[in-house]
Amino acid sequence: MSLKSFKGWQTPLAAVALAMSATMPLPASAQSVMDASILAGSCFNCHGTDGRSNGAIPSIAGRPQLALKNQMLAFKSDQPPAGTTVMTRIAKGYTDQEIDALALYFSQIKQQAAVSQKDLKK
Ligand code: HEC
Repeated sequence: MSLKSFKGWQTPLAAVALAMSATMPLPASAQSVMDASILAGSCFNCHGTDGRSNGAIPSIAGRPQLALKNQMLAFKSDQPPAGTTVMTRIAKGYTDQEIDALALYFSQIKQQAAVSQKDLKK
């Protein structure tokens, strides 16, 4: 196959790729405010699933929305609370809108998971 014919073959392929990319879903950053549950997933690693922590890192589930928002904004600010370790860096990665959405999301989760009858019988 000559180089010329190869190029001719490539053009329609490029057009197909372009058409496909136009129908691709929006990147995560464009969806983030719409679906805070996606954003919140990255908090679960440290704050526990659904923001309910069993360890040394505080639980954030079920806290008042405004309190969560103010804490995140404080972490993000140039004067974070004394003793802050990782949240300064983490909070800087979110827009104020995303922080709003995260605060709302975690405020709506119950502090404790519902205890089922099965658990009680153990
Ligand atoms: C790498 C682990 C880690 C991740 C990931 C993480 N956090 Fe934190 N978070 C901490 C630690 C540790 C603290 C205690 C403050 C500090 O040392 O930075 C904290 C504190 C907080 C507090 C204050 C709680 C309190 O009672 O003082 C809030 C609110 C919070 N995080 C929200 C979030 C949200 C929302 C996310 C996800 C966007 C998140 N964190 C992701 C580790 C993490």
